[in-house]
Amino acid sequence: MWTKKQLQETMKAKMTDYLLVVVSNRQPYSHVFKSGKVICQRQPGGVVTALSPVLEATNGIWIAVGSSPFDRQVLDSNSKVKLPPEHPSYELKRIFLSKEELDSYYYGYSNEGLWPLSHIAYTRPFFLTSGWEAYQRVNKKFADAILEEVGNQKAFIWVQDFHLALVAKYLREANCSNIITSLFWHIPWPNSEVFRICPQRKELVEGLLAYDLLGFQIRYHCDNFLQAVDRELESRIDREKMSVSFQNRETFVRPFPISIDFQAISKEAESKEVASELERIREEFALGDKKILVGIDRIDYTKGIPERFRAIDRFLEKNPEYKEKFVFFQLGQVSRIHIPRYKQLNDELNELAVEINWKHSQGSWAPIIFTRTYMSYQDILALYRMADVCFVSSLHDGMNLVAKEFVAARSDLNGVLILSQFTGASRELEDALLVNPYDIEAFAGTIVQAFHMPLEEREKRMRKMREVVEQNNIYRWAGKVLSQLLKFEFQEV
Ligand code: G6P
Repeated sequence: MWTKKQLQETMKAKMTDYLLVVVSNRQPYSHVFKSGKVICQRQPGGVVTALSPVLEATNGIWIAVGSSPFDRQVLDSNSKVKLPPEHPSYELKRIFLSKEELDSYYYGYSNEGLWPLSHIAYTRPFFLTSGWEAYQRVNKKFADAILEEVGNQKAFIWVQDFHLALVAKYLREANCSNIITSLFWHIPWPNSEVFRICPQRKELVEGLLAYDLLGFQIRYHCDNFLQAVDRELESRIDREKMSVSFQNRETFVRPFPISIDFQAISKEAESKEVASELERIREEFALGDKKILVGIDRIDYTKGIPERFRAIDRFLEKNPEYKEKFVFFQLGQVSRIHIPRYKQLNDELNELAVEINWKHSQGSWAPIIFTRTYMSYQDILALYRMADVCFVSSLHDGMNLVAKEFVAARSDLNGVLILSQFTGASRELEDALLVNPYDIEAFAGTIVQAFHMPLEEREKRMRKMREVVEQNNIYRWAGKVLSQLLKFEFQEV
């Protein structure tokens, strides 16, 4: 099994001649002003958990967009700051974007164009020329920052996600031969029928083929990508090797399902601190000894939150005897709120929760608690621990790490996971109760099934899911991608 230590040791031993550069839109740490001083805050998420330790062990560099004025304040003359704060051993180089760049590249082309295009959740994508121009400009800015740091050194460049499809293309244009590049596409890659509406589809595919290695969450997304290449470009696709030869270069395409730090979550979820947070939350929200159903998401139209609310509504219509016996606790993290569709979704959720609560309320009881309050990671672990049922009902999701975190947090082997069949995670977590979130009737039936599942079956399912996530942890994900990159050095691919 891959562990943090093993990943660190392997990469330290093997990357001796190479500088490792991780590149992402969102930064791993941000500097914020709190209680009278500037503090360094770590961003949540698997990528930081896995890649921060590798960069520490190899003294690498992370390049990402800085946001606050405090992010700027702490930088040296090369726009860098040493991380992590406890034992500085690698560098974060921050790029700053103008408001116009942020609007057009991040909110615009990335999140109003590529995000809905890739997720197929029936939200219309918009592709403005100005967005595409900014997308190219910002990708070039990233490439310039990489070149500035790498110089003539040999380097592995590992780029994250759909915001940065063109970075390798700009690196190639600078004629650098000392680098090996990879991009991991964290979200789904759509089928060709959907992809072909994108006006810049050819340029995007061409740009991606400037990378040496492309990673997707699951095999299906790799196949979709190869199909897009087939339609858009004159190239040679080798399906056996999973590679594409284009303009005298070969790009390898592989599935690498992302994950979480299973051991750490499992251990922390058992801590006294989490147990006392659990009691506090029960009291604060007057949950008493009711059954608890939990949903934890970034408020995004891909997550199927309205569908979840409607399933609760239908469940109560059909089974009114459950009134006062449970509470559905939905924690929503506000996200990308400058985009009209996200604002609209927030309003829709408020209205839906009020309407359903009004319809089914009894005395002081109402079925849904919908809160956007800030909750610490320990609070979230407490929510996982108190949940009789956890809902992950995405309309489409590359992976979904809430599902895996819930499983990791349940070392007590209790709790039922209701999981959308349209998540990457559903390929691994076959022992969850799988649902089609569009089928509200069946979804409501699955809630009944979850309520009635005998303890023995709950334990059996949870044990199996835990085994899967424990094996396929985040260190394995990073280890697999980096090992694949190392093969390029030895021409073993
Ligand atoms: C998804 C994307 C990530 C992104 C995250 C949060 O998981 O794949 O690249 O960072 O959402 O979204 P945000 O727009 O806040 O960075």
